[in-house]
Amino acid sequence: MGRYLIKNGHLIDPANGIDGRMDILIQDGMVCKVAGNIDGNNAGTEVVNASGKYIMPGFIDLHVHLREPGFEYKETVMTGARAAAKGGVTTICPMPNTKPVIDTPAGVKDLLERAKDAPVHILPIGAITSGQEGIDITDIEGMKEAGAVAISEDGKSVMDSWIFMQALHEAARTGMPVFSHCEDTGLVDGGVMNYGAKSEELGLPGIINAAEDVIVARDIFMAKEAGCRLHLCHCSTADSVLLVEMAKKQGLPVTAEACPHHFTMSDDEITEDDGRFKMNPPLRGRADVEALKNGLKNGIMDIISTDHAPHGTEEKAQSMLKAPFGITGLETSFALGYTVLVKGGYLTLPELVRKMSVNPAKVIGIDKGNLAEGKMADLVIADLDTEYEIDSSKFESKGKNTPFNGMKVYGRIEKTFVCGRMVYCI
Ligand code: DOR
Ligand code: ZN
Ligand code: ZN
Repeated sequence: MGRYLIKNGHLIDPANGIDGRMDILIQDGMVCKVAGNIDGNNAGTEVVNASGKYIMPGFIDLHVHLREPGFEYKETVMTGARAAAKGGVTTICPMPNTKPVIDTPAGVKDLLERAKDAPVHILPIGAITSGQEGIDITDIEGMKEAGAVAISEDGKSVMDSWIFMQALHEAARTGMPVFSHCEDTGLVDGGVMNYGAKSEELGLPGIINAAEDVIVARDIFMAKEAGCRLHLCHCSTADSVLLVEMAKKQGLPVTAEACPHHFTMSDDEITEDDGRFKMNPPLRGRADVEALKNGLKNGIMDIISTDHAPHGTEEKAQSMLKAPFGITGLETSFALGYTVLVKGGYLTLPELVRKMSVNPAKVIGIDKGNLAEGKMADLVIADLDTEYEIDSSKFESKGKNTPFNGMKVYGRIEKTFVCGRMVYCI
């Protein structure tokens, strides 16, 4: 294992109140020393000159789709993990909607086995119901013991509220967080993009905001009743933000995430009927985008995660009527967060790091997002000053599909360390 001395970088470590120039010594997989000036004349130490660069705890993405097992043509554990490393994401939580669905302790163990040589940490999420069919509750306690960090039915909601309630009670009993994809199946009614002027213009069936809002409200009230921890995935509407605010005012253990695509682009920017603009929930109206950015700014929205959802090139190169929902996100999340939210004046850089690293660690209760001496050396070095163009053909992910291809951004990850090992270098 290498010994690295990162010199002269600007360290952003909000967990320890650090925002300034620091040297960092990494040894035995850990942050060994953080100080103003550490002597680099030690045989076997590789000195990394980080002058003019920013060092941050590695990002933790609570919402990722690796497609293994079952859909390896879209993504494998290894290609998804490499995409994460390139994006500065050192821990990823894959959703269980693979084939078969990750819905048993054995399934969780199998995924962990597939992940053992991956360059980033992989912490699985187990399904809420068997096969995600919405009928039989899974062995939540067993999956937790096998290594799952949360349960989720992502891709849909458990529509039967009675069955969902049984799962929430079991989640409360076992201390397992519930990650909710909020979508009333009936209200979606075959929609493929946001309902509004743009869907009318393109002649495509729309998805109303209420399809999300009613389930956000339901899940908050049900989690309150059951006494479990609730994490709301990919909130996309202004009213979701209001409901999260209400839950927080009541002191409920509710957290909420926003995805880069939802705070970067609104539906009026959709230029044509093309699958690259299709994800679920969809790109919403301008007022929703503004509400999400303000929700992030005022602390209602705690977390930024990607909903990285890679698909095959041909299946996405179709009309929104036919293409599957989902876009690639791991390799653009920090740049979009930095460009839109920090340069846009909504967040400071330490606040962005909290939402991409410190807060996600808290949601799943892991000792990460912190670069104090003795902590595991999961960290990134980024250049924040050079503008560049997103080029999806260069993605490590098999999924090349993003509406942000060609967008000019700031915030390029130059090096990623996981457990003290350099897993990505520009
Ligand atoms: O856009 C999405 N893609 N939303 C989801 O909820 C599921 C995901 C996928 O698995 O492709
Ligand atoms: Zn989802
Ligand atoms: Zn998802």
